[in-house]
Amino acid sequence: MKIISDPLELKEHLKKSNSSVGFVPTMGALHEGHIALIKRARQENEIVVVSIFVNPTQFLAGEDLDKYPKKDDADKKICELSGVDVLFFPTAEDMYSNDEVKICAPNVRGYVLEGATRPGHFSGVLRVVMKLLNIVSPTRAYFGKKDAQQLNLIRLMVKQFFMDVEIVPVDIVRDSDGLALSSRNVYLSKAQREEALKIPKSLYAASKLISKNILDTVKIKEEMHAILSPLEIKYVEVLNRDFEVIEKVQIGNTVILVEVIVGKTRLLDNIWL
Ligand code: PAJ
Repeated sequence: MKIISDPLELKEHLKKSNSSVGFVPTMGALHEGHIALIKRARQENEIVVVSIFVNPTQFLAGEDLDKYPKKDDADKKICELSGVDVLFFPTAEDMYSNDEVKICAPNVRGYVLEGATRPGHFSGVLRVVMKLLNIVSPTRAYFGKKDAQQLNLIRLMVKQFFMDVEIVPVDIVRDSDGLALSSRNVYLSKAQREEALKIPKSLYAASKLISKNILDTVKIKEEMHAILSPLEIKYVEVLNRDFEVIEKVQIGNTVILVEVIVGKTRLLDNIWL
């Protein structure tokens, strides 16, 4: 496995071959969720590139940028064992300079849900993903459904900027107790982790209601709120796949999303129906 930190060196390295390239962008502290993306990329492409970059522009002031979990050595091992060909490991200086041209999240879809609780977050995500996609020029790029709004906005950017890459969504990987894997789960104490299990429970309850043909989104959200309380609920929302609010669940075109704070840890989860 080659490790490269200089964007231009990586561009040059990848230019030499005519092979299909699968790309998995991450912020490191890799877990089985990330590994699922890497495995899928490995199956579908000749070359696999993974990036590890804790992108400062997507963290708001006061968020966990400085204490975001770092596991560089373990991450390198995981990439090597997962058959990654190139690990892109840039510094902030490699990626950003002063007085830059900037891409922004769209006003409506970028500033609801997580975009409302973290204003500016998605502009930072799109900025870095645009740069990463331009550096790697992948055939396919892999993103988890866990970050459903991020996935939606990246698809929108790729479409609206006529970018030449296939965005591949990958299913959420969960721990055996049902909690969606996240690099931030390490912040949870044992008791908080117990509390956090209300999140998958609330989504399970929603899917049970739907299986009984209760499709009214107000009723579904009420039931979820009852299960989640007294946790600090940032949002519980039922949307179609274009991220528009709907009154009735449409099977095949619905996402139910939750953001909750447990202790000081922000946890996201969702199901796609
Ligand atoms: P990060 O949180 O490291 O996640 C990297 C990728 O792994 C994202 O596409 C995310 O949706 C996916 N992922 C995380 N947990 C998952 C799980 N339990 N199941 C399936 N996929 C999962 O998302 C980011 O980094 C950054 O915003 C990034 C896109 C790299 C831009 O900086």
